[in-house]
Amino acid sequence: MLILHFYLYTLVVFLVEVRSILKYEEKMKKLFYSMIFISIWLLPNLAIGGPDRATLLSMSCAACHGTDGKSPGAMPSLYGKSSKYIEDTMLRFRKGERKGTVMNRIAKGYSEADIKLIASYFGKLANK
Ligand code: HEC
Repeated sequence: MLILHFYLYTLVVFLVEVRSILKYEEKMKKLFYSMIFISIWLLPNLAIGGPDRATLLSMSCAACHGTDGKSPGAMPSLYGKSSKYIEDTMLRFRKGERKGTVMNRIAKGYSEADIKLIASYFGKLANK
């Protein structure tokens, strides 16, 4: 009688265990599928690679010249200026032909190719 009791007890424990393992697998399957789903969903974003270089470079100007170059305060706005004006001015700052307080040092931090990209970014904003 005791043995039967013991046997039933182990059987119940065993079944409970199996059930929880199955549930665990079920959870793992759900996790697995959601991971696949998320990676497929993220794939296009990875392929596009986030903001392009022109946008990235131009973001550092926003700290002083405002979002989209629309300055809220004492700094001059870049918004509304032509890409040619921004490019020429940056190159002049870079060479020291135009003297500023901070722009000479900032302009020196960019290559001519970068300055072209930044200038065309702001030029396009103004024409939107
Ligand atoms: C630390 C603040 C600061 C940052 C960052 C900054 N600027 Fe300037 N910018 C100024 C100030 C101040 C002036 C006025 C000239 C001076 O004192 O250097 C100016 C002037 C200019 C001018 C001349 C505007 C005019 O009306 O003639 C241009 C063009 C310009 N900045 C472009 C940029 C670009 C492009 C970036 C980003 C790569 C940038 N600036 C980042 C502060 C900043």
